[in-house]
Amino acid sequence: MAEQMSDVVTYEVTEDGVAIIRADNPPVNALGYQNRLGLWNAIEKFDADATAKIALVHCDGRTFFAGADISEFGGVRADPLLPQVCDRYEAATKPVVASMHGTSLGGGFEMGLASHYRIAQKKSKVGLPEVHLGIIPGAGGTQRAPRVMGAANALEAITTGRHMSAVEAHELGAIDRLDDSGDPLAAGLAYCRELLAEGAGPRRTGERPVPDATPELFAEWTEKVKKTAKGQNSPLYCVEAVSACMLPIAEGLEAERAVSAKTHSDPQRPALVHAFFGERAVNKIPEAKVAPRKLETVGIIGGGTMGAGIAAAALNAGLSVVMVEMNAEAVARGEKNLRRNYASSVAKGRMTQAALDGMLEAKFSTSASYDALADVDLVIEAVFEKMEVKKEVFGKIDAIVREGAVLASNTSYLDVDEIAACTKRPQDVIGLHFFSPAHIMRLLEVVVGDKTAPDVVATGFQLAKMMKKVAVRAGVCDGFIGNRILGAYMKAANMMVEDGADPYEVDAAVRSFGYPMGPFQMGDLAGLDIGYFNRRGKDATRDPETRYSEGFLDRMYENGWLGQKTEKGFYDYAGGARSGPPNPEIPAMIEAERRKLGINAKPFSREDILRRYIAAMTNEAAKVVGEGIALRPVDVDMTSLFGYGYPRWRGGPMHHADAVGLDVILNDIREFAKDDPKFWEPAPLLVKLVEEGRSFADLNKG
Ligand code: COA
Ligand code: NAD
Repeated sequence: MAEQMSDVVTYEVTEDGVAIIRADNPPVNALGYQNRLGLWNAIEKFDADATAKIALVHCDGRTFFAGADISEFGGVRADPLLPQVCDRYEAATKPVVASMHGTSLGGGFEMGLASHYRIAQKKSKVGLPEVHLGIIPGAGGTQRAPRVMGAANALEAITTGRHMSAVEAHELGAIDRLDDSGDPLAAGLAYCRELLAEGAGPRRTGERPVPDATPELFAEWTEKVKKTAKGQNSPLYCVEAVSACMLPIAEGLEAERAVSAKTHSDPQRPALVHAFFGERAVNKIPEAKVAPRKLETVGIIGGGTMGAGIAAAALNAGLSVVMVEMNAEAVARGEKNLRRNYASSVAKGRMTQAALDGMLEAKFSTSASYDALADVDLVIEAVFEKMEVKKEVFGKIDAIVREGAVLASNTSYLDVDEIAACTKRPQDVIGLHFFSPAHIMRLLEVVVGDKTAPDVVATGFQLAKMMKKVAVRAGVCDGFIGNRILGAYMKAANMMVEDGADPYEVDAAVRSFGYPMGPFQMGDLAGLDIGYFNRRGKDATRDPETRYSEGFLDRMYENGWLGQKTEKGFYDYAGGARSGPPNPEIPAMIEAERRKLGINAKPFSREDILRRYIAAMTNEAAKVVGEGIALRPVDVDMTSLFGYGYPRWRGGPMHHADAVGLDVILNDIREFAKDDPKFWEPAPLLVKLVEEGRSFADLNKG
């Protein structure tokens, strides 16, 4: 009879002396209080139990422990804490076996490492992903992993936090035995019996040496991680903690705990935890329980940059794709664009040419006729960004595509309701805004129109899931969530440059904040013609009270300095380079523009630049949430993280604004508004939150 050790852990001894310590805490057996308490009671019981000769740690359900309970982070945790539990398992006087399946991650893998023997299901994964949550494997992982796989391998695993296949972990020595039966309990029991028959005793990981742990190795890794961490502290904490494996285990564990304490007071930790839960929270939409429509075949209109990227993303998700272009020549170009998206995979050996050809043969077709779209489940239009063209395309597909199919536009800015209105089935029309390169970027903005049916929204989210993308639900407005906010901080950057800031200093400031590139580098990458045509499209309707601060960008267009594609923009890309020194003609051009406008340049420090950039971003984001374009602040955060290069370790613009203080940001906005009340008009939501002493985080609850 199994005995209850806590609400979720039981203890039972087989006739031949195997004590089964069994956890059942769905969905992922996270090591919350009830699990830790039960594990503690069970190991105490085992050590004192004369009928038990060996212990087997096993989890019911889809996975062995998938880590510490992240939702407990930041609160007060009750004893026993996980490091105590792991140390107690290692100290057991009789052998302990862990049978791992599913995803044995973080604290789960640390439980495995603290056990004396490890068996794992062949298809399962292990890993120490704590680095992504701003912490270190703090339950002995930084000390025990190097003792089973060597310090260099442990450093790689811990600083990248990658999920490793059990097969690889076995090769590295971290797992003793692989099993392919799919029955971790039976396999674990059989292994225990074998060990008993061999007379195996406890085999404590902590007692093993780490021959490759040298001061030189850690010095080398510290330098390496400093270069790759991009402002994130946790990879460096990880190296610091692992380096303590040069010490005897007890001292090493103490050092690990000291580093762990530092991570827990670092603001990057709550930001990264916010990102972890945020990635999941964005799926909580009003349509979450609605069944999606059938989704097997996708028609893509346009084989340009986006169409070819979306086609690759759809093929990678296992969907069949038909690509439609304007004529035979454009069809051939579209297919070439698609193949180019696979070139590096083939070159790096991740995919063979034969496998690519086979997949395209089976799943991909092209046509210059819209008739080829008649039977598809979903159409994604990715033609030129012009309302007349979009309307013409939607008129055509309305006449051809089968009833019940989803009709989507990849428009970046245009009114999805206006596009829907030119069909007889606006309920089937939606915006699916992919980001370039579409087969790589994780964000998908699902733009829901006035009349879009709930199951069409659900189908958009289903598509994202199949493509392993993060979908964010957005409402209709110029630029939706992401591009609308981007527009505001780009405008702030342009105004600063006109007023005297050096564009290179703006880029450097934004990089120092943690973005991979600054706004002017980004403009060069996207092509300055896009913004130019966008502005010309708005000339007729622009509010005359709005400051026009893009004159210097217009001059760049006129000079043919369009960025990387013309080998000259803000920077010089001679010879097709991907980065380069500043274009030396820019400062004089901007100064001439200022003179023309009668602006006396004033200096901007890095701090001035960031204050304005962040204030513009926060204010527009607050408008986007206040108007219901984004469901919650967390949706803005995930849009920024997955589509716009916002540093994950800051959690997102709304999380960051809470951390800075909404009152501080509102004060900045009011100060800047003295010069330009139109642009810096405070968002009503921001004012309200400050008045009520509330935060954006409060709006994420419930
Ligand atoms: N603590 C608390 N909750 C957790 C959790 C953890 N360690 N791991 C997962 N969850 C929750 C998720 O938030 C989700 O909750 P929801 O359904 O309310 O949104 C639920 O468990 C299922 O997780 P999900 O990620 O949707 O399932 P999946 O099958 O796609 O992935 C994992 C499973 C385990 C691979 C993934 O959840 C994961 O990577 N978890 C974190 C592992 C980790 O970092 N552990 C180290 C912590 S120190
Ligand atoms: P692109 O110019 O690279 O490709 C557009 C393609 O559409 C061309 O190959 C053209 O031949 C084809 N086309 C035009 N009219 C057509 C028609 N009537 N029928 C069939 N094919 C037609 O443009 P892009 O960068 O791929 O952008 C496409 C859409 O995606 C635009 O709405 C754009 O705003 C949006 N978008 C672009 C990006 C980006 O970074 N490039 C990002 C997100 C969204």
